[in-house]
Amino acid sequence: MKRGSDSHFPQRAPLAASGLPRRREEARAKCESDPRFGGASDASSEGDVNLSPQRQAWQAAHVGLQSRALLDRDAEAFLHQSLSTPCLEALVAAEGIWLTDAQGRRYADFHGNNVHQVGYRHPRVVAAVREALDTLPFSPRRFTNRYAVDLAERLRALAPDPLGKVLFAPGGTLAIGMALKLARVATGRHKTISLWDSFHGASLDAISVGGEAVFRKGIGPLLPGTEHAPPPDPRACAFGCGGRCSLRCADYVAYVLDKEEDVAAVIVETVRCTDVQVPPRDYYRILREACDRHGTLLVLDEVPIALGRTGRMFAFQHYDVVPDVVVLGKGLGGAVYPMAAVIARRDLDVAADRALGHYTHEKSSVGCAAALATLDVVADEALCERSARLGVRALARLEALKARHALVGDVRGLGLLLGVELTRADGTPAREEAERVMYECLSRGLSFKVGQGNVLTLSPPLVIAEPDLDAALDVLDAALGVVVGAAVP
Ligand SMILES: Cc1ncc(COP(=O)(O)O)c(C=O)c1O
Repeated sequence: MKRGSDSHFPQRAPLAASGLPRRREEARAKCESDPRFGGASDASSEGDVNLSPQRQAWQAAHVGLQSRALLDRDAEAFLHQSLSTPCLEALVAAEGIWLTDAQGRRYADFHGNNVHQVGYRHPRVVAAVREALDTLPFSPRRFTNRYAVDLAERLRALAPDPLGKVLFAPGGTLAIGMALKLARVATGRHKTISLWDSFHGASLDAISVGGEAVFRKGIGPLLPGTEHAPPPDPRACAFGCGGRCSLRCADYVAYVLDKEEDVAAVIVETVRCTDVQVPPRDYYRILREACDRHGTLLVLDEVPIALGRTGRMFAFQHYDVVPDVVVLGKGLGGAVYPMAAVIARRDLDVAADRALGHYTHEKSSVGCAAALATLDVVADEALCERSARLGVRALARLEALKARHALVGDVRGLGLLLGVELTRADGTPAREEAERVMYECLSRGLSFKVGQGNVLTLSPPLVIAEPDLDAALDVLDAALGVVVGAAVP
């Protein structure tokens, strides 16, 4: 008898009755008819989506038989979702700044989901992981291990006072959830203020504080008390600041805090990563003062941008403020292991009778070994300084691109987190063009992400050699030229 056909098991409703085929058809129709799923700005806010006509055209031109078979198996086996399956190509290797696909093509990886500050397969990370695997591959709850304690102590030493108590989790989303729980327990309140268009992870609690429709729309009730404010985004300012931030967005957060009075936490990406929004210096002074006035915790999400990406160990160090909680992730695991951390004010150690995290891989010996080696590399190879220096150089090149390509409406960056915003002559976001530039760059061996539909987001490994950085920007230059026609000479 076939497994599952036994009458003791509850029978699944026939698909037709369950409405599933209808839902599947709706999703497919949306993808096919929507000119940028392309077209809806909300669909592509977190990154280029996977069913656009341009994706299909690129695949028709580039994907060979070996990959096609694997891509088909992937599409058959995985639940389909925007941003991943069906996938673009299949990878077989990653080394340094390079990805290699199943056809042997190499791509300089200026995306890497921001896990690759130290590049792929950094020898010190690989050696540390091997050593942990050979001695202590797992550390069950109730026990600690030297890797975890060393890492917690290292993070305490790196973070400025009064930050000094640490929790680990196997992923940034989970760490955000722990920070939200800690804020509730510590303040006895549940409300939060966060920003529209932000991303804090894909789980239900994280999308409740996140502000992107692609995650929130049609998914049902989210967490109560999660208020949202307009982000500091001068080119699309809700307060009409006209391209030069007037800080009215920060004043607005302070205003809501004054009105609500009982908000547990303000949670913000220190620098919004998807489209590289770098708030002005006073933004965090205003938020910090408002939070202090109301006993509200300032939680800064630095999951993709800490550990040198912006030219400082923590991005908030550009602002002369210290948050009550900072959340790290991604690159902490050295482009190997899912590692994230919450570093909280020492006096927020107030939840001894609760389980804030309790994740199976919480004190992963292997993950902590990868993280310790990563921090060693960041320090010994002076990656913060390197990121700051190369970032200045890259931004100057991007300014030059802006002067030559009419489609480039803005360039911005902090360290090696760089954004190139494409805008049409009438001021509208050049979404279709951004996607074409991305595929043109992929064809030429450069991978990056497109944020908010029209911002080319470049985040190369911080170990990148200067000639490779220059070559990648040459590729971008050429791709812009191809897509938009002749550059202004
Ligand atoms: C700002 C930010 N916060 C949180 C997360 C969630 O991290 P993870 O995907 O590791 O759960 C991400 C992931 O992209 C992120 O960019």
